Amino acid sequence: MVIPQTNFNPPFNITRASHLVLTAQDLPASRDFYTQVLGLLVSDEDANTIFLRGVEERGHHSLTLKKTAAEPTCECVGMHVFGEEDLDKAKFHFDQAGVPAKFIEVPFQTRTLRFLDAMGTPVELCATMQTKPRLHVEVNTHQGARALRMDHYQVLVPDVLAAARFYMDLGFRISDYIVVQGAGAVVGTFLYRKSNPWDIVFLHRSGPRFHHCGYVVESLYDIVRGLDTAGNIGFADRIEHGPGRHGHGHSYYVYLRDPDGHRTELLLPAIQVVDRYDEPVACMVDGKSNGNRWGFPPPKSWFEEASGFTGVEVKRPPFEGEPLTLETYLNTRQWRRAAQPLRQTA
Ligand SMILES: [Fe+2]
Repeated sequence: MVIPQTNFNPPFNITRASHLVLTAQDLPASRDFYTQVLGLLVSDEDANTIFLRGVEERGHHSLTLKKTAAEPTCECVGMHVFGEEDLDKAKFHFDQAGVPAKFIEVPFQTRTLRFLDAMGTPVELCATMQTKPRLHVEVNTHQGARALRMDHYQVLVPDVLAAARFYMDLGFRISDYIVVQGAGAVVGTFLYRKSNPWDIVFLHRSGPRFHHCGYVVESLYDIVRGLDTAGNIGFADRIEHGPGRHGHGHSYYVYLRDPDGHRTELLLPAIQVVDRYDEPVACMVDGKSNGNRWGFPPPKSWFEEASGFTGVEVKRPPFEGEPLTLETYLNTRQWRRAAQPLRQTA
């Protein structure tokens, strides 16, 4: 299996996945969901836009919600670069490579460069944004899951290796990749710049489509607090998948759908991945086994439903694949035969 190699001398310095912009039809409902269930803080808002951040974050926003009357979409995902000079290097690099890129104005951010990646995903880069107080220890202000910070996002694409190659040329490394047993096809690539397994994740599907963003929480009990709150304020039916424990990255997780159907994940901090010798790990799937350490496989909706990117054409992959869904798992599961004895007796 040949996977792309990381360029360890990238043309500019991306530091992490940092923010994204979603559109919402019912802004007050989304505000309730993100502030009360996830526990995000409102940094600024007006009638048409809400800027949100996790309780640990000093950056002004990691999630921007914009009111729309149209189909809700993801306007873009965002990344931080280390310094202003990296934006000039990025513009030069993209111009040389024929990648569409232009500087745009974004409230509360300094210079922002918007480009389209190899799959057509709109991505914006900025070096700095306004800062707000870090309210991590102001526990009296916390709600729901009291989400700490944005960790990563996941995008569905028709060619995960081409998507990975684009970002690995920019210095991203692969932590894990998913391979279909027997066929050898790579159907998932987990890429990172910071020191954990994920900044941007690609899974094989029609795309590009926005699948989810992940917010880190401090403890498993914070996930329970978020889910309790969801149940109490009318969002119980928005819990889509989990809780469970990932096979890749080893985090506890749960996935929820916001009032517009955008998906978000709450997860505990993942493993640390830093050292050069910590090389990509192949994770084999066969369409029959549950890839989680525990917890049910994702439902069909998790595999198939995702948000479009604003104005971006969705392309189908050459093959679809048949992942194990919750529905198939439950239909074929034979509980009695699968049960193991609790203990051996003499
Ligand atoms: Fe995730």
